[in-house]
Amino acid sequence: MFRLCLATLLLMLCTLPALCAAPGEAAPPWWKHAIFYEIYPRSFQDSTGNGVGDLNGILARLDYLEDLGIDAIWLTPCFPSPQVDFGYDVSDYRAIDPGFGILADFDRLVAEARRRGIRVILDLVLNHTSDQHPWFRESRASRGSARRDWYVWRDGKGPGRPPCNWLSLFGGPAWTLDPATGQYYYHYFYREQPDLNWRNPAVREEMLDVTRWWYRRGVAGFRLDAVDTVFEDPRLPDNPLEPGLNPCGDPNMINLHNYKQPEVHGLMRELRKVADQSGAVLIGETYVESAAELKAYYGEGGNELQLPTGHLLAMADRLSAPEFRRRIAAMAAIGCWPVWVLNNHDLARSVTRFGDGVHDDAIAKDLAALLLTLRGTPILYYGEELGMANHDPKRLEDVRDPVGRRGWPTGKLRDGARTPMQWDATPGAGFTRGKPWLPIPAGAATRNVAVQAREPDSVLSFYRRLLALRRSSPALLDGGYRELNPEDPHVLAYLREGQGQAVLVALNLSPEPRAVAFDLPALGWAGARPQVLLGSGGRTPMAGLPAELEPFSVVIVALGRSRPADPTGRGGKPLE
Ligand code: NOJ
Repeated sequence: MFRLCLATLLLMLCTLPALCAAPGEAAPPWWKHAIFYEIYPRSFQDSTGNGVGDLNGILARLDYLEDLGIDAIWLTPCFPSPQVDFGYDVSDYRAIDPGFGILADFDRLVAEARRRGIRVILDLVLNHTSDQHPWFRESRASRGSARRDWYVWRDGKGPGRPPCNWLSLFGGPAWTLDPATGQYYYHYFYREQPDLNWRNPAVREEMLDVTRWWYRRGVAGFRLDAVDTVFEDPRLPDNPLEPGLNPCGDPNMINLHNYKQPEVHGLMRELRKVADQSGAVLIGETYVESAAELKAYYGEGGNELQLPTGHLLAMADRLSAPEFRRRIAAMAAIGCWPVWVLNNHDLARSVTRFGDGVHDDAIAKDLAALLLTLRGTPILYYGEELGMANHDPKRLEDVRDPVGRRGWPTGKLRDGARTPMQWDATPGAGFTRGKPWLPIPAGAATRNVAVQAREPDSVLSFYRRLLALRRSSPALLDGGYRELNPEDPHVLAYLREGQGQAVLVALNLSPEPRAVAFDLPALGWAGARPQVLLGSGGRTPMAGLPAELEPFSVVIVALGRSRPADPTGRGGKPLE
């Protein structure tokens, strides 16, 4: 099987430290070159044996992350929470949930991560709190409460009739009657997640202050949860209905008046101003229909989110060269720095969505190569680097996620993408000594870090090589994107060009071998001596351009000058 040893690969790349700017050029912000890695703390590493992951577990795995080449970890919410929505129902924004540890554990995690050149990003739930948050308890205590206006309270239209027809994303009406005060409160998600009233300046100030508080603790940024749902039209007009029912059994509705309201941009600018004072990054959970729509979240002159996640690749409905090409081109056309995501804790894992059940490892490598060679910042999801697939519950009684129970069996199932990280072949997969909170698939006995680290052709080994390659290649880090062979229905190919170098990437996204041809002189690379940097097929030649790609394989070829790499990949500099 073709493999290129890492040393050779690195030698063929740049001499300049990848993160150092050329003289006179401003250094790019750290988050542009960083590889982000999402950790679902419940599922990464359990250090206590209770079957649920925790911060000390993550701490114990930092060496793995460093070795893999991760620059920043995004922890989904680890604040105190009743865990109705597994942490996305926060009851205190300035502490750590006892199930995950204590603040001192968090501080140690930040310090130890920093020592390894890894930054820590937290998940800020803006739209709502838990109904157990003291703010909401106070708010619901009486109509005259000082915090009444921190949430969205309204009178109903009459007995048993909520203020308007809005529906919760997680099923049922988005309004719940509080019998004690006779008013309804609004919740876009579960009734245990009342929406904050972002039109109240006190709420804004408090939450900005929460971000300052964490920045002072060394947090390098936030992933902002559910950005699109933060504001709603205060006049509460009914939303238009569409025919049919959604998986929760509610009428299909267009969320015209409680979703993507224009005021959100002012809030993003305020959060950004505070973030900039700490050199922090803001990643936005922003689902969009088009790249053009995503552009608004970057703000004018880039004064809103640095990394709004459009999920454009993840939303592709199939593995298809034209489909991916179109989505990448749309992103390139808006001229903003892209963020690429294939997996997260709300989506079925990419191998499950794009795999064919026969070539899943090859497809996982194709997807890895795509994510890590495109222009932009990639965000990985734990286990993606092993090619982990969904492990969905088979019986309603095994579903842990409430929305999964409500929509059973056709609705959204999120448990399957949240199963424990597979570290080794022991019964708890090295994740826990106890009973894991979600079941571990039988396949974990072979699909795990320990096994894959030993196998040179494993998905994990491929990720490692790709990450090293990316880190040491100025063309991959900063180069432009040029689409190649735009009519090819099966092979997605592109050039990443910059600083006198070019890297050609060709991905066969089909189950058949495919012939490819690239006209180097026409591309401005006459006289180039192509050198294969990395390939996932078994018969990839080392030199020259490939003429044929094996089924579901990728080849990455250097065309330009080559210089030795910076082995630290960080320009030899520790984090500031
Ligand atoms: C988006 C999060 O990603 C999801 O997991 C959560 O359920 C909702 N926001 C509500 O907070």
